[in-house]
Amino acid sequence: MTDDSQSSIRVLIVDDNRLTVENVARMLSFESDIEVVGSANGGRKGVRMAEALRPDVVLMDINMPEMDGIEACGLITELSPPSRVMMMSVQADLQYIKQAMAAGAREFLVKPFGFDELVNGIRQVHEVEPSLAEVAARMATMAPAAPERSEFEEVAERAVAVAVFGPKGGVGCSTVAANLALALQSRRKADVLLVDGDLVFGDLDALLDLRPSHRVLDVIEMHDPQDLGMLRQMMAEHSSGVRLMAAPSRPELSELVRPDAFLRLLRDLRGMYDFLVIDAGCRFDGLTQQVTELVDRVILVLTPELTAVNSVYSLLMMSHMRSFPPGKIILVMNKYSRAWGISPAAVGDTIGRPVVMAVPADNAVALDAANRGEPVLLSAPRSEIAKHLAALERVVPDGDQLAANLEEMAQRAQEELEAHKEAELAALLAEDVTADVTAPEAAPDERRGCARWFPGLVGRG
Ligand SMILES: Nc1ncnc2c1ncn2[C@@H]1O[C@H](COP(=O)(O)OP(=O)(O)OP(=O)(O)O)[C@@H](O)[C@H]1O
Ligand SMILES: [Mg+2]
Repeated sequence: MTDDSQSSIRVLIVDDNRLTVENVARMLSFESDIEVVGSANGGRKGVRMAEALRPDVVLMDINMPEMDGIEACGLITELSPPSRVMMMSVQADLQYIKQAMAAGAREFLVKPFGFDELVNGIRQVHEVEPSLAEVAARMATMAPAAPERSEFEEVAERAVAVAVFGPKGGVGCSTVAANLALALQSRRKADVLLVDGDLVFGDLDALLDLRPSHRVLDVIEMHDPQDLGMLRQMMAEHSSGVRLMAAPSRPELSELVRPDAFLRLLRDLRGMYDFLVIDAGCRFDGLTQQVTELVDRVILVLTPELTAVNSVYSLLMMSHMRSFPPGKIILVMNKYSRAWGISPAAVGDTIGRPVVMAVPADNAVALDAANRGEPVLLSAPRSEIAKHLAALERVVPDGDQLAANLEEMAQRAQEELEAHKEAELAALLAEDVTADVTAPEAAPDERRGCARWFPGLVGRG
């Protein structure tokens, strides 16, 4: 095995259509960071192979004889927690997508899909942080030996991270994020870092009337995992005690923020504060997606207008949002009025998730706060809008609560695992899988094509 293959993304293809397997394997053979470690022509075989090979990503067809892809996906999620399943199907039927996501699938590709869609999908699925549910499932399958410092303790010790996101734009994400940070700081006596994750038009420095001497690009430049103390000093400090990592000073500078560096920084910052509140803005790009994966809670902000409700609904339909554990996403309505607009209850009914808080509309108070650079919690603490924004602090758990939650999930996963039909599992595991543990061969003339265009690929493996 070469170094290359050690660091590559290991993929298993499960599809009863031989041509699909060959085509997908051929497409993937062009990518040096992806390695097809095997293929199976049915769900049952796929489960056995996933258990034996522990691939990073399983590409799974839905309609297959014997055992369909959804059932196989459920078993793989349970038996091989490190493997992430990507469904491939000609049906983009909502019911299928729902079932697949409920079975633990991380992505859904509709056939026929293109090269970029396939390859980017695999990379994305591979890169995202494990969800709490995955960590819990992994822990349930681990040997019972007590580690010196358990994952529960680690969860309890790192900052609880919250992302505030509003796909519509202008709905009040920055207002919510800034006031939530202030509320956590004052009510929990906590060490809070507010991160302006709206890298293009971030304006939290203006909303807090701060002139940061360092911004996110400086912090990334100085980020040394061996010397994190330095980072604390680089954050701007608000009179309330809340710290701010400000967005770049000009929109064009946002292009210099490398997503991987930003995410690494966020992970390290989690070890240094009690709470991280990230204003994720309104653009749902790859980075925002990874930020929502990384955090413990996602507050989705909408206003009582159809377009805002529709954006949130579309977002919630996305596969990666569906894979979040229950309770991770919190819907907040801002600019609510009894006199106009869609009611929180109607939104809840339409979207299928409750709106947990409706922050009243108050133009005078909100505008005055924004223009003075003083969040409403400070500029108008007795206003209804301030009272509601302060109460939002209650939807954020602390580290101990999160850890207790995780422990409970691990316990449940363990119980489910034990309760699983043992006979079926035994039958699956008994069969020999070694014959399948090879990448499918490319046809001879395809090899010639590869050799002509990608000489470096020839002879690999
Ligand atoms: N509850 C409220 N009632 C009335 N106006 C509000 C309320 N909350 C926020 N606003 C106002 O709405 C505008 C947008 O708020 P804010 O900047 O927080 O939104 P945003 O989602 O961060 O916007 P952007 O997409 O531009 O980043 C501001 O003028 C703010 O003062
Ligand atoms: Mg904003």
